[in-house]
Amino acid sequence: MSITLLAIESSCDETSAAVCRDGAILSNIIASQSVHEKYGGVVPELASRAHIQHIVPVVDQALKKACCSVDELDGIAVTKAPGLIGSLLIGSQFAKSLSLSLDIPLIGVHHMQAHVLANLIDAPRPEFPFLCLTVSGGHTQIVLCESALKMQVIGETIDDAAGEAFDKSAKILGLPYPGGPLIDKYAQSGDPKRFPFPEPQIPSLDFSFSGLKTSILYFIRKEESADADFIKNNLADICASIQQRIISILLIKLRKAARQTGVRDICIAGGVSANSGLRKAFQEMGKKEGWNTYIPAFEYCTDNAAMIAIAGYHQFLAGKSDPLDMRVSARAEW
Ligand code: KG4
Ligand code: ZN
Repeated sequence: MSITLLAIESSCDETSAAVCRDGAILSNIIASQSVHEKYGGVVPELASRAHIQHIVPVVDQALKKACCSVDELDGIAVTKAPGLIGSLLIGSQFAKSLSLSLDIPLIGVHHMQAHVLANLIDAPRPEFPFLCLTVSGGHTQIVLCESALKMQVIGETIDDAAGEAFDKSAKILGLPYPGGPLIDKYAQSGDPKRFPFPEPQIPSLDFSFSGLKTSILYFIRKEESADADFIKNNLADICASIQQRIISILLIKLRKAARQTGVRDICIAGGVSANSGLRKAFQEMGKKEGWNTYIPAFEYCTDNAAMIAIAGYHQFLAGKSDPLDMRVSARAEW
């Protein structure tokens, strides 16, 4: 019997819907919200309102693109945590209504676990157990993934997430939100060794980015007091140096985790895994260390419903579904 799922993601500022049949993604529609740009970060209330406007057309397009009618659906997967509570409520209420009216199961999905499982969407796929460095705007984690349903966080940030480190650094440089992709762009023509920012000394598999942010802030203030055009004249080298340091913080801990666990299938996931410097450095480290490396396709790195669909599909296969009074949560235990 074939299994067709509709999946909905609305945890932050992307409204997305996807259709998957037997684990294959048939459509993945993403509506981004530009309304936050001028505020320098996501404004929760505006995000909720934009989700309300986007959700019907986005689901409609996802079904159309997949040539699928609602009658063919066997279940609805939806992000239940973590995320902005108002944003999560829009997606989950929509999914609950559809689940009730079609009398099909509701499957609540953990957003960070879905980022990890984005690596299972396309071949070649990692084999279990694998390690995943999940780097997004709100999280930075090393996850030991024993099966699609069994994962353990073995390292995580003690302060800022990697995406925040990119975005806050970009803000210091006067770049608009989200600054991560812009740092990536400018870094491509810069010298990463020009400004050696300090490396945090955290003993475990955990990460820290707040010291880096402070050192960038003081460095820029000092240089600007001598040369008001310092940022403008050195933007590419500053971006390349910041990016280089964030990447080395991430990959040193990933290598430590791989050596400690002996796991050789290694993945990256989450919005920051779209970073071109990280993708390249990760693959180079993989070659040196003898890893099999995996990175999701670009559209499955940042927030998307295809990853919710794949996570929901594995939960569905295991007979797991949620009641209609399922609660959403800003934070989520693993
Ligand atoms: O996973 P995601 O789309 O949303 C969250 O769940 O947080 O990640 C968003 C984060 C933002 O901080 C954004 O700046 C960062 O991913 N990001 C990047 C790049 N593309 C997205 N950071 C660095 N380089 C990129 N190319
Ligand atoms: Zn995310």
